[in-house]
Amino acid sequence: MLEIKDSVAVITGGGSGIGLSVAKYWLSQGGKVVIADVVESALDQATEELQGEVATVLCNVTQEEDCARLADTAIEKFGQINLVAPFAGIIKDGLMVAPDRETGKVTKKMLLDDFKAVIDINLTGVFLTVRECAERMINHNCKGLICLVSSTGSLGTAGQINYSSTKAAMSVMPKVITAEFFRRGLADRIRCVAVAPGYVGTPMVKGMNQKALDYIIGQVPIGRLIEPEEVATLVGDLYRNEALAGDVFFIHGGLRLGSKG
Ligand SMILES: NC(=O)c1ccc[n+]([C@@H]2O[C@H](COP(=O)([O-])OP(=O)(O)OC[C@H]3O[C@@H](n4cnc5c(N)ncnc54)[C@H](O)[C@@H]3O)[C@@H](O)[C@H]2O)c1
Repeated sequence: MLEIKDSVAVITGGGSGIGLSVAKYWLSQGGKVVIADVVESALDQATEELQGEVATVLCNVTQEEDCARLADTAIEKFGQINLVAPFAGIIKDGLMVAPDRETGKVTKKMLLDDFKAVIDINLTGVFLTVRECAERMINHNCKGLICLVSSTGSLGTAGQINYSSTKAAMSVMPKVITAEFFRRGLADRIRCVAVAPGYVGTPMVKGMNQKALDYIIGQVPIGRLIEPEEVATLVGDLYRNEALAGDVFFIHGGLRLGSKG
């Protein structure tokens, strides 16, 4: 079992939602955190809220040099990286093609920009964050966990062809990374998993209109949104338990998976 005490977590999207909750949890367990976000005011607000050893990095995860600077900051400030939580993410929902309900003709399509923006942040951004952190973890002999964030959307949600595609990628990456580390004799030192939450009560979900939110909650057997703190605790459990590697761990309150339309 690994201990969180004195370990160092690098968390992107750390200025809000699940990332911020993971940072709070890590500090509460005696760990240290480096939080990264593209929104400076979110980092300022988080710094005020967080108690303990915290470093912040203004970072756009789509930029290679920002991700390199983030990983370097963790090593320079705290000497190691033990948890990588690349949780920065966005949604830009819409139907791929939307036929008009009356005429049956397509009147709207998902914009290429909306497709690419989600791919850039949720997929390329994760690749860059993980690659840069993993390089430093290997070169500095660190032990720990790379914990990606997939989603129940990985199983296919209507209106999210961009988002669901990136989250499906998050559920295969732990297998690829674990296999690569296994080849080089590193898999016992650096594990990789993903958490796959259902609907979590963060700004991303609470920003929906009330009707959509009521509908969503009506689909969840436990009758409520998942709390960000519940996802953070799961990340902690996955970190501690060194038998867990290469897989995806759902946390959704019993939600029926997939989408009927
Ligand atoms: N909320 C949910 O229901 C839910 C469910 C499953 C998975 N997730 C995933 O969890 C992660 C966190 O989601 P959340 O609900 O906490 O969202 P959130 O919107 O509360 O937080 C996301 C953070 O990412 C930051 N960010 C956005 N683009 C960035 C960029 N280019 N570089 C750096 N930071 C950037 C934002 O500024 C924000 O602080 C996302 O990857 C999301 O897809 C969320």
